[in-house]
Amino acid sequence: MSKLLTVRDLVVEVPARNIKILDGISFSLEAGQTLGLVGESGCGKSVTCCAVANMLPRGIVRSGGSVTFEPGGPSTRKPAVPKIAMIFQDPTSSLNPVHTIGYYLESALYRHQGLKGRDARMEAMRLLERVGIDRARSRLRAYPHQFSGGMNQRVMIAHALAAKPQLLIADEPTTALDVTMQAQILHLLEELKAETGMSLMIVSHDLGVIARLADRAAVMYCGKIVETASVAELLERPSHPYARALIDCMPSIDPDDLAPPVPIPGSVPLLDSLPEGCHFHPRCSRASGECSARFPAPANIGFAHEASCYHPVAA
Ligand SMILES: Nc1ncnc2c1ncn2[C@@H]1O[C@H](COP(=O)(O)OP(=O)(O)OP(=O)(O)O)[C@@H](O)[C@H]1O
Ligand code: SF4
Ligand SMILES: [Mg+2]
Repeated sequence: MSKLLTVRDLVVEVPARNIKILDGISFSLEAGQTLGLVGESGCGKSVTCCAVANMLPRGIVRSGGSVTFEPGGPSTRKPAVPKIAMIFQDPTSSLNPVHTIGYYLESALYRHQGLKGRDARMEAMRLLERVGIDRARSRLRAYPHQFSGGMNQRVMIAHALAAKPQLLIADEPTTALDVTMQAQILHLLEELKAETGMSLMIVSHDLGVIARLADRAAVMYCGKIVETASVAELLERPSHPYARALIDCMPSIDPDDLAPPVPIPGSVPLLDSLPEGCHFHPRCSRASGECSARFPAPANIGFAHEASCYHPVAA
């Protein structure tokens, strides 16, 4: 399988505050595969997505490393517009309230596929139907406030599909939705991925979502990737104490499992006062002297499984 996306030693900073949001992260994604990014709030998941999509907000700059997107494999010519699309956590506030759904979709179809007038309208209707919105013709005249959060997320997905992306980045696509709607959106993403063959990068703080959709996962903490593995391996044999702790936080749906979830002590430190060495050490029950001296280099734990820890859980 060919690599679609390769991120190497990516550094993203806020120069005005002299802080690093991403500190040398590396990962890759094969064509047609799904990568899950997981970690607590503020660890840099959304900034990673924006850096990959080349959509970093003003005031945040990429100061090191590389992001290589190779649609169709390294040897073919790249299209003029990289085929990366992104959907966001809060669909309703991501849509412009003064534009109709039809305007939103048709302008994307014009931009990405050159469709206009009736052709654009027909394709917009087809996309809406594909993402599960009925009465598509009349819905095109509706505004985002007339749709539920789940419907607006479907519109966002339809908008992303207008670009015929080879990589869809979904940043917490179900966090703002109720559980029934969450399940429907995850199912839709699964179907679309199987149908189009696109790759998916999905962000969630919910390991259940990652377990359902992703082939591989990267665990982030304070702007660093601390463990990468296949999802099955990560859930069964987490190596980094932080990954283990995230799993232990998950409530179980097994009625026989009466053990309560175990919270991680403390909280994520601020970027301008990160602890020296391994940033997790003040919260880690396995920490030793060397943990606060130097950040541990990534080490192979098993096949395609890496973790940055002096005292991995499995050892
Ligand atoms: N525009 C910005 N200017 C300055 N700092 C920012 C900006 N955007 C994000 N940050 C900082 O970068 C860090 C990572 O933010 P990011 O939004 O990527 O976190 P996240 O992992 O997506 O969290 P969440 O799960 O809450 O969405 C945070 O400390 C955040 O305060
Ligand atoms: S390096 Fe040390 S502090 Fe960091 S996770 Fe591993 S054991 Fe804990
Ligand atoms: Mg985020």
